[in-house]
Amino acid sequence: MTNQALGTRPIQGLDPAADDGARREFRKTLGQFATGVTVMTTLGQTSERVGMTVSSFNSLSLDPPLILWSIAKTTAAFGCFQLQDAFAVNVMSAEQEAWARQMAQSSADKFKGVAVTEGVLGVPLIEGCVAHMECHVWARYPGGDHDIIVGHVKRISSSGKSPLLFHAGVFRSF
Ligand SMILES: Cc1cc2nc3c(=O)[nH]c(=O)nc-3n(C[C@H](O)[C@H](O)[C@H](O)COP(=O)(O)O)c2cc1C
Repeated sequence: MTNQALGTRPIQGLDPAADDGARREFRKTLGQFATGVTVMTTLGQTSERVGMTVSSFNSLSLDPPLILWSIAKTTAAFGCFQLQDAFAVNVMSAEQEAWARQMAQSSADKFKGVAVTEGVLGVPLIEGCVAHMECHVWARYPGGDHDIIVGHVKRISSSGKSPLLFHAGVFRSF
């Protein structure tokens, strides 16, 4: 089957570092990879709740139990995730799209209306998620304009709810 038959537009030989157009195509191409949606939570310097929507989450190792994700250095939350030793992965459910949108916007009160409990590591856990993974930071690696954070998973829980999905810039569900 040809690309045209699939309704896609072939792009060949673009260098994503070359110019703005190629960088836009790079973002669009990355967006073709469908993911779930997480919110990473931790605490700030004055123990305030910190959270951000993240789709770069992935599994890394079973033994030891490790996960990873990447954080843009430009985010306000970057400093907090640099300093804190603990964070939580909140895997968002299909019913939590509004909270995922809210947590993706820089705002003084990302947690407005968001039901939260405190996990065993002291970091916020969002209620009604598909799953939680409470982690200690295992390692941080440089990755261009992002840092890669590796988490050592200390505690897990899951609810069996239906997950929120993200593809080509659009929130979706099954
Ligand atoms: C679906 C989705 C996935 C995202 N994934 C990431 C990600 O993996 N890493 C990242 O740094 N930002 C990601 N963002 C953007 C951050 O959520 C956003 O920049 C951040 O919440 C801004 O808040 P802050 O600057 O106040 O910290 C994503 C946004 C959305 C909507």
